[in-house]
Amino acid sequence: MAQETSRNVGPVVLLGPPGAGKGTQAKRIRERYGIPQVSTGDLLRQNVVQGTELGIAAKAVMARGELVNDDLVCDMVQQRLVLPDCKRGYVLDGFPRTAAQAGWLDALLDHELFDNSRPTRAWPIVISLDVDYNQLLLRITGRRSCPTCGRIYNVHFQPPRTDELCDEAHGTKLVTRNDDRLEVLQPRLTAYQEQTRPVADYYQRTGRLISVNGDLPMDDVTGQIFRILEDHHA
Ligand code: AP5
Repeated sequence: MAQETSRNVGPVVLLGPPGAGKGTQAKRIRERYGIPQVSTGDLLRQNVVQGTELGIAAKAVMARGELVNDDLVCDMVQQRLVLPDCKRGYVLDGFPRTAAQAGWLDALLDHELFDNSRPTRAWPIVISLDVDYNQLLLRITGRRSCPTCGRIYNVHFQPPRTDELCDEAHGTKLVTRNDDRLEVLQPRLTAYQEQTRPVADYYQRTGRLISVNGDLPMDDVTGQIFRILEDHHA
């Protein structure tokens, strides 16, 4: 599909449990609409690799599959959203994930109502990816990613052409995420049920949640999402 980069899009919020396909779909939205993917997981992992103060605080928490402190995450998101590439919109992948983060985002967008450069309030388009538990297990245990270009693969559903090597980044060896180990999966799913499900319920109550069937093949999920975004702007 052709790229569409002339109008404002979103902000778009992708909600869903670990392995639901948020990162995969966020990249496709980024490519189609030319808006940045703001992934709190990726930003935190970058901080861990760079050894920043935030990364040092987040490292052990992430390895246990728990959520990083709300204030730290909100500060990090705020610093990202003020960058000029977010002016036409952005897709939030993995944020908000707690009731406090959702409230913080609403307050941020409310504030934009009074910013003369943005005359209308920018309600987020909140899309929930609903995926069956057994499918999540396969997606998480089969996920591999390229440390050079960030491309995500899956040994079950989207394998690279050559085993364990990236198709694009000159054959870089693919890696498994530290928190994709089976023993970390359960705490991640528990954090989702206890802390992130209430966020989906909040958006549902306020009439803003749009659910898509995330069990379908990637292209079908993308089709559902693009239709929602097109309808929203029609
Ligand atoms: P984060 O990086 O956000 O991880 P997550 O939410 O657990 O989500 P994943 O990245 O595991 O999955 P995804 O939904 O993006 O799926 P993907 O597209 O990769 O967070 C990591 C950690 O950081 C957290 O545990 C927490 O500690 C911390 N953190 C992050 N944000 C935070 C926040 N806001 N507050 C506090 N702490 C925070 O797909 C998965 C696999 O499935 C891939 O292999 C893919 O190829 C495959 N796949 C995708 N779609 C399909 C499909 N339709 N069919 C078949 N296969 C598919």
